Amino acid sequence: MKALVTAGGRATRMRPITHTTNKHLIPLANKPMLAHAVGKIVDAGIRDIVVNVNPGETDIQKVIGDGSAWDARITYVEQVGGPRGLAHIVRNARPYLGEEPFLFFLGDNIILGSIREFVHAFEEQHLDCMLALARVKDPQRFGVPVIEGDRIVRVVEKPETPPSDFAVTGIYVYSPRIFDAVTAITPSARGEYEISDAHTWLIDNGAKVGWREITGWWKDTGKPEDLLEGNALILNELLPEDMIIEGAVHPEARIQGRVAIGKGTTIGPGCLIRGPVTIGAGSTVTDAFIGPHTSIGDGATIAQTEIEHSIVLDRATVRCGCRIVDAIIGKDASVTPADETLPKGHRLIIGDNSVVEL
Ligand code: G1P
Repeated sequence: MKALVTAGGRATRMRPITHTTNKHLIPLANKPMLAHAVGKIVDAGIRDIVVNVNPGETDIQKVIGDGSAWDARITYVEQVGGPRGLAHIVRNARPYLGEEPFLFFLGDNIILGSIREFVHAFEEQHLDCMLALARVKDPQRFGVPVIEGDRIVRVVEKPETPPSDFAVTGIYVYSPRIFDAVTAITPSARGEYEISDAHTWLIDNGAKVGWREITGWWKDTGKPEDLLEGNALILNELLPEDMIIEGAVHPEARIQGRVAIGKGTTIGPGCLIRGPVTIGAGSTVTDAFIGPHTSIGDGATIAQTEIEHSIVLDRATVRCGCRIVDAIIGKDASVTPADETLPKGHRLIIGDNSVVEL
């Protein structure tokens, strides 16, 4: 079986980070979001992966590579004709998928646990379409199934009045019948070829559509707070063997719980790092508390600061004598004290779409 993974789009709700970084490359627990998706796919026994990217994309290919890091093969396909919906992406990728079943995985969906059983169940039940459902508080944001007995009879995209508290997650397995569906449907009111309409088309045309509830944690990372939650949960899931300390920790620094520290990183005296925390390579931590559920990238500087439940990207400096929580700090960004320059006060150079709470 092959897999098709989405890694395009503009992710406007993640600005300013996504002004310069494709959302799928934002690190969670210091690993790009897309690498987590590839890991789940390979874990399900799938090694032939097609990744849908924006036209002209080059960063994703550079970071993720040809798949050899996972002993897999990754082919990149540019999305043609602009953003026209998930069903359009499936249609676009047909020449690369062939007339065989495939897994369709939205690259911004983060899950804990394995999808192996889900893929098996599709094969065992000889289905045309298998949908992974998750119970959510806000189904109106998603595709929502209408379930009668134990059968899905229709899927409605972003309904104002949700017919159930399930969301159809972005993890699907299809037989080649999906290609008939994505060719037959017409654009929705928002001008997109909706994957939910393709699912309803399959049901209406006698295809076998099954479903399974994802019992572990699932999130589609649409908003910055989803990234922080995803980061925290992935850090919680990391195994003790992932938590290696390669950097230099001063004897008078304290490390508590599960903490990973990369090569060339130094942790100075008096620092307290309370896991789960990952710190990349070549970073410097002095006079700082790094609290639970924080990821710090490579080459970052954290000094005279307490930081918790946050993501700090590569080469950022946080040295502000204050406590930072629930923050996402971009590459090469700097947060420094207000009293080092005159006139005193908060001196801000903030990119478009930034969010700052003072
Ligand atoms: C898409 C699908 C929706 C699905 C969701 C899961 O929505 O259209 O049916 O529930 O992914 O992540 P989007 O995130 O594109 O709004």
